[in-house]
Amino acid sequence: MTAANFDRLARIYAALERLAFGGALERARFRFLDELRDRKNILVLGEGDGRCLARLVHLAPHARIQCVDASAAMLATAAQRLRGNVHPAAVQFTQADARQLALPTDEFDAIVTLFFLDCFTAAEAGGLLAKLSLAARRDCLWLYADFALPAEGWRRWRARLWLDVLYFFFRRVTRISARALPEIPAMMIDRGWHHIAHDEWQAGLLRSDVWSRV
Ligand SMILES: C[S@@+](CC[C@H](N)C(=O)[O-])C[C@H]1O[C@@H](n2cnc3c(N)ncnc32)[C@H](O)[C@@H]1O
Repeated sequence: MTAANFDRLARIYAALERLAFGGALERARFRFLDELRDRKNILVLGEGDGRCLARLVHLAPHARIQCVDASAAMLATAAQRLRGNVHPAAVQFTQADARQLALPTDEFDAIVTLFFLDCFTAAEAGGLLAKLSLAARRDCLWLYADFALPAEGWRRWRARLWLDVLYFFFRRVTRISARALPEIPAMMIDRGWHHIAHDEWQAGLLRSDVWSRV
């Protein structure tokens, strides 16, 4: 099992996304970030180039943040973005394949997965959700943003077209294991999570939620 390799995209990822979607992914990422303001122990998985992290350290300056990504280049870009802006102890960078990462039980009061769980097959995503649900404290908030497939109509066809293009591109460039979007929200509900905030963009192609178990 080899993790996808996003190294080649680290420097151009933000520009590529702007070219394809304008500012829509940024809006989805940060729509509910404020909800994490009071959180103390935050796990960010698949952080990417550090745009979320840079906001998070200002928003929750007293939090401990564990930032995990498989890509050395993404982590380096994220660390560079933070340089001089944050106490080095506040953020722990871990280069690891999230599927193989051991996590403590009942530890985090916030989990952040932004455009990350779409990289995995349904079976892998299910395994990750199980592990993250154990690592989450009972009062944990889970900030989730990702692509989505609307239920029906032209929105579904439009989304399907975009998803086919995106999976074609990312499978070739980064070797992600997923061929199609896993049904993460349904899996979250199966694990006892419910969303307490939700928004959508691009005719339902993008969604952002805050999930909770209380
Ligand atoms: C599509 S990018 C999303 C980045 C960022 N969170 C965002 O909002 O744009 C997926 C990120 O997850 C990381 N990633 C992919 N597979 C991974 C894995 N198995 N373990 C850890 N990180 C992984 C990639 O290196 C990349 O930084």
